[in-house]
Amino acid sequence: MHTVVFVPVYLLLVTPITTSWWAAGSNVVLDPKQICKKSRKFNDKMDKICNGKTKLLEFISHGVALGESECQYQFRFRKWNCTSARRSMRKVLLRDTRETGFVNAITAAAVTYEITKACTKGDLKNCFCDRKYNKNSKKNKMKGVKLPDGEWKWGGCGDNINYGFRKSKDFMDTRYKKKSDMKTLLKLHNYKAGRLAIKNHMTTECKCHGLSGSCNVKTCWRKMPLFREVGNRLKEHFDGAAKVIAGNDGHSFIPEGETIKSPGEEDLVYSEDTPNYCKLNRTIGSFGTGGRECNPTSQGEEGCDILCCNRGHTTRKETEERSCNCEFVYCCEVQCQTCRSDKNVSTCV
Ligand SMILES: *[C@@H]1O[C@H](CO)[C@@H](O)[C@H](O)[C@H]1NC(C)=O
Ligand SMILES: *[C@@H]1O[C@H](CO)[C@@H](O)[C@H](O)[C@H]1NC(C)=O
Ligand SMILES: *[C@@H]1O[C@H](CO)[C@@H](O)[C@H](O)[C@H]1NC(C)=O
Repeated sequence: MHTVVFVPVYLLLVTPITTSWWAAGSNVVLDPKQICKKSRKFNDKMDKICNGKTKLLEFISHGVALGESECQYQFRFRKWNCTSARRSMRKVLLRDTRETGFVNAITAAAVTYEITKACTKGDLKNCFCDRKYNKNSKKNKMKGVKLPDGEWKWGGCGDNINYGFRKSKDFMDTRYKKKSDMKTLLKLHNYKAGRLAIKNHMTTECKCHGLSGSCNVKTCWRKMPLFREVGNRLKEHFDGAAKVIAGNDGHSFIPEGETIKSPGEEDLVYSEDTPNYCKLNRTIGSFGTGGRECNPTSQGEEGCDILCCNRGHTTRKETEERSCNCEFVYCCEVQCQTCRSDKNVSTCV
């Protein structure tokens, strides 16, 4: 028997951030202080965010951290695993590969998400719940919005996605306004694709009122999808990303193949093929896949064949310990037993 002291749930949910894209302190990697320093003198929108009078900067950095951890979750079984090590991420962001596109999109999405969430919770001045839907009622032509059945009205506190979208754009896009080189065009496109992965996929949530749950009156509001769903969606867009080349006019891009249709607003774009992440290669910021855990029975990306780049893998037995048969003991402890089980762990050579 051992004892587990009750820890408030919110403490368990906060994952410590060791190295962050933020902390990397380079103007390639997103670092809000650097961005503020560079933009302050010539831009009013940026100044409003950077001058410290709003708490926006704080939620922007939460957003970058959220984007980072979601990226690592989505790529946990891939050769490139979205490691936040500066010497790797810097190299990734200097290119224009699918990976670059994904990092840019998920970062812009996560910044939008955190700002919007903060607004809904009332943590930001000058920002309010979305009540626009109330006024325009059901007459409002809402493209692609699935409305609830039965009797209902708009109410409650809707997520103000337009505010989050706009502030994320102000902070991330403004400094590129006067540029139209390929790298900038791709970056801005992927930023927008990231934000739209939230904005175009808002859901409607409702609550019943009335006598004993009779649901006589139903109020509904617009809500952001879970960020995991945003990550999954962007990962799909990563898999289907469109390769593009510079257009003739010098400030647009076109699909690389003539027969391929132009990428839509939500599609991710890239212009450089993914380099080989199998081996250690400093030029591209690759640590190689040696030592990575793989699944010997899978034929997919996480399978040992692909992840280990056909170099082979070794398997060792590991004993896993976990808490089990937990009981609540008055008051306030949880007592658990320790259960052990064997598992085979395979890693790439
Ligand atoms: C590292 O990657 C670059 C770019 O893909 C490639 O040209 C170079 O040959 C690689 N170096 C090694 C040692 O594999
Ligand atoms: C990513 O892979 C590297 C080795 O290639 C490993 O050292 C690192 O722990 C992995 N990071 C994450 C977040 O999984
Ligand atoms: C681990 O591998 C050994 C030898 O291949 C096998 O006998 C055993 O059943 C495996 N254990 C688990 C938990 O899969």
